[in-house]
Amino acid sequence: MNFKALSKSFLAFLLLTFAALVLVACGGSSDEGETSDSSNEGAETEQSGDGGEKAKYVVGTDAAYAPMEYIDESGEIVGIDIDVVNAIAEEMGFEVEFQNTGWDPLFPAVKNGEVDFAVSSITITEERKKEYDFTEPYYVAKQLILVPEDSDVEKFEDLKDKRVAVQISTTGHEVVKGLLGETSEQILAADTLPVAIGEMINGNAEAVVADNAPVLEYMKSNPDVKFKTVEDDSFEKEYYGIMVKKGNTELLELLNEGIKRLKESGKLQEITGVEVD
Ligand code: ARG
Repeated sequence: MNFKALSKSFLAFLLLTFAALVLVACGGSSDEGETSDSSNEGAETEQSGDGGEKAKYVVGTDAAYAPMEYIDESGEIVGIDIDVVNAIAEEMGFEVEFQNTGWDPLFPAVKNGEVDFAVSSITITEERKKEYDFTEPYYVAKQLILVPEDSDVEKFEDLKDKRVAVQISTTGHEVVKGLLGETSEQILAADTLPVAIGEMINGNAEAVVADNAPVLEYMKSNPDVKFKTVEDDSFEKEYYGIMVKKGNTELLELLNEGIKRLKESGKLQEITGVEVD
């Protein structure tokens, strides 16, 4: 091989190497969508690693309800409900972004599409089913009464002559209205459960009625507060569901399939610690 031929083949080699490098670089950059999600904030779909589109849903919640949904020390929305939704999303291959809307605003937010769905320990009720669609239940709960340690309250009936704090528009609010009357002035309806409990701490209320898990969590994380809980057989089982806009069948089916798979694999019970019958 003479010098000319040699330099020609060397040039060809250089060109090939360069072309290969360009290919590798391009291939690499098409993967970037997977990791950089700050660039598509608010996007409905996201480029996934294999080039497919991943749907992204905005999920509303009232993150003042530990252990179900709350803000941790780093300011992140966490909790059992959040874990359930994240597990469904992973199972079904979509992305989620949580938004702390608060409790009362959560319902119109689902209705007007501000959020795609809601997870917030929401009890599936006949009343709510008229206006929203719910997934299959993923959690079962009951009301629980919280009173000061020296209270004489032994059952729900004993609240007849008491001032009772609740979180507004919750099932706890409903059962207390059932006992004291729809417009009773003995009822203190607060925006959040922590505020309702605060009403009892500062002496404005003599009892709180709310879902068992957050009441028990409150007792656990505030051992210095002298409260006790009272159960009552008249409280019915309540089933939590994920709430979507009425008629959004596609999303409902996606979520239901996720719940079904998590039930079958035992993952749901692993996350919640509760068996849904
Ligand atoms: N389960 C009750 C209801 O649906 C209370 C839920 C309140 N949830 C919350 N995150 N504050 O009415």
